[in-house]
Amino acid sequence: MPRVLLLLPTSTYRASEFLAAAEGLGVEVVTGSDAPQALAFVMGDHFVELDLDDPEQAAREIEQLGARVRLDAVVAVDDRGALTAALASERLGLAHNSPAAVSATRDKATMRRLLAAAAVAQPAWREVAGVPGDLGAEAAAIASAASAVGYPAVVKPCSLSGSRGVVRVDDATAARAAAARVRSIARDAGIPGSAPLLVERFVPGPEVAVEGIVRAGTLDVLAVFDKPDPLDGPFFEETIYVTPSRLSVADLDAVGRLVADATAALGIVEGPVHGEVRLPHLAGGGAADDRGGAGAHQGPVLVEVAARTIGGRCARTLSFSAGQSLEELVLRHALGLESGPLPVRDDEASGVMMLPVERSGTLERVDGLERARAVRHVTGVEVTVSPGRPLRALPEGDRYLGFVFARAASPGEVEDALRAAHAALEVRIA
Ligand SMILES: Nc1ncnc2c1ncn2[C@@H]1O[C@H](COP(=O)(O)OP(=O)(O)OP(=O)(O)O)[C@@H](O)[C@H]1O
Ligand SMILES: [Mg+2]
Repeated sequence: MPRVLLLLPTSTYRASEFLAAAEGLGVEVVTGSDAPQALAFVMGDHFVELDLDDPEQAAREIEQLGARVRLDAVVAVDDRGALTAALASERLGLAHNSPAAVSATRDKATMRRLLAAAAVAQPAWREVAGVPGDLGAEAAAIASAASAVGYPAVVKPCSLSGSRGVVRVDDATAARAAAARVRSIARDAGIPGSAPLLVERFVPGPEVAVEGIVRAGTLDVLAVFDKPDPLDGPFFEETIYVTPSRLSVADLDAVGRLVADATAALGIVEGPVHGEVRLPHLAGGGAADDRGGAGAHQGPVLVEVAARTIGGRCARTLSFSAGQSLEELVLRHALGLESGPLPVRDDEASGVMMLPVERSGTLERVDGLERARAVRHVTGVEVTVSPGRPLRALPEGDRYLGFVFARAASPGEVEDALRAAHAALEVRIA
């Protein structure tokens, strides 16, 4: 029986899907987690406690485990274990992305450098070094970088996710204020004050997410999601994702080629890929005159690409030939269990809405769940924060309130169902 080491951080949303996929494939699972397991002694070599914030050390421990039990693959279920998986796979001689490639996807400035070297279309950008102890100097440097790339611009930390600390600024005053706010968010997340921030030109237009899998260096696009709510800032809360995309075939081809080029530029050669792409040539209104800087872009522009699957619970929207989940495809690939052509996504349109956190406070309760679940085409409504827990709105926020899922014949019906379900919910925040 093939055996996989799954790296499951305590904070992950992705555990149950990957465990179910492993079970469905008849694959034996060893769990690697940063949660000390009360029953670790009973689990023996089926559990290993790892410090996923110390990937080198975690990889050494996995190598020791690999000397006792055969491990056929090491798979990180999300970003936090990705570098550990790469380092451990290298030590164990398993096919995987290089640690350098994985690191590049986890540091937005490194990613921008590599994409620039390969001439992949991306926003104009500047890396601004932190100035510990002198916020005034840092704010001036951020404002000067923003005027160099041109307004509107975006200020962001290099290594956070979930749009945490990502802020659009339209002038120098806003840029200076954002510098302080983004720095404070970065500090709260444990990022040292000397770490650089990134300033980018804001790229207007619709945004899509691309889910793919790379096999021996070749990217296959598995799904493209439209994000029908405009992401114009100042903060960038993800809400609705719907697939298949309603973009034209020509635009979809261009998006696929861009993500493939980006993947190659970063050196991602195996496993899942999640890309985010903007299409400035489709920007409406006044933004049409401003395609992210002086007609810089004729086609799609890469926001970023990560060597992981789609985050949160969103992968539940995807199912492939014979009802296979995305996690099954990822495990099959990692374990070399693929046979024949890549499965195709099921015909039905499908989508998810990440429930927005409208303001910060304490979650009292969410009413209207039954009404939301009764909306036609809605297949699930899940609140992932317990009552009494603190909630923070973006840009500080770092977790999802919950998810609504829908399936229907067309993307439009899916989108309508998600909006109707959201309207039926009443989120009470004290
Ligand atoms: N230069 C830009 N132009 C336009 N929009 C941007 C730009 N940078 C970021 N955004 C918006 O902010 C969102 C989050 O930014 P980014 O992907 O860089 O950060 P993140 O925290 O890694 O996000 P996530 O984890 O949600 O993928 C993007 O999906 C996009 O909507
Ligand atoms: Mg992103």
